[in-house]
Amino acid sequence: MGITVAPITENFVAEIGDVDLSGQLAPADLTAVKDAFWKYAVLIFPGQQLSQDQHLQFASQFGPLESGTGIGRGNKPPRLRPELADVSNVDQQGALLERDDRLKKYQLGNRLWHTDASFRPVPALCSLLYAHTVAPIGGHTEFADQRAAYDTLPEEMKERLAGRIAEHSIFTSRAQVGMTEFEEEELKDFPPVPQMVVRTIPENGRKSLYVPSHAGRIFDMPEAEGLALIDQLMEHATQRQFVFTHRWRENDLVMWDNRCTLHRGTGYDDTRWKRIMQRATVLDVANSCEQEGVRVPA
Ligand code: OGA
Ligand code: MN
Repeated sequence: MGITVAPITENFVAEIGDVDLSGQLAPADLTAVKDAFWKYAVLIFPGQQLSQDQHLQFASQFGPLESGTGIGRGNKPPRLRPELADVSNVDQQGALLERDDRLKKYQLGNRLWHTDASFRPVPALCSLLYAHTVAPIGGHTEFADQRAAYDTLPEEMKERLAGRIAEHSIFTSRAQVGMTEFEEEELKDFPPVPQMVVRTIPENGRKSLYVPSHAGRIFDMPEAEGLALIDQLMEHATQRQFVFTHRWRENDLVMWDNRCTLHRGTGYDDTRWKRIMQRATVLDVANSCEQEGVRVPA
């Protein structure tokens, strides 16, 4: 028997059953997962028992993995292998992090609508987030379909955005949650990068908005006008009809296409509840401007 694809929404989110991600997938099953992924953009795999290695092994079937996010941890020893981002509020011993822990501050940025690693020259193709321990209240993850958001823009807006490039920086989004103190090293490691405002998803030819909270400036546009446009697009792109809220169960693996979705975590009492998640991140093939064949302005 092959995998089961159970749509949750018509074109955006599906649950995948009859599959065990801890072992090698049969080629036909992997193909079926990929077909579903390109159609939907958010896939939920309930009831998976995954070690760090098994999680990474499944993720690596989609492309090269991001390693060592290199920001936010300060000088604490990592809890996980370098290819896994620690999306938890516990330390190495499994105790709740202190209220003012730097990792927690950094993770506050996850509450903003964003897409993973668009502040890197080669951004993330997809992310695979696995839940060990979930908060009993809150701590959901919301996803917004940016293909649907693009499709519903007025024609004149589509024309205004065609070929446009935005500047993305991790510091743009972190400043929005009051995190402004970074080491010299960090500032040097993460210079602003260009990304397309609208990108095309090669597997299905659909166009998608690509304007997360890392975007802070639009090239060849006065700064104020660019900021206003980014605000306007964000408001459009995150309207309720484009948004799905995932309520986590333990052992859910959720994967999303970072090229055509925005996501954000919702709040929870992180001084009371443990929420222990780990994320594998698969790199895209190139910068979005390069993929679109658009020359990056100096
Ligand atoms: C992430 C992320 C949100 C959440 O892992 O990339 O943004 O709900 N997570 O934990
Ligand atoms: Mn994220």
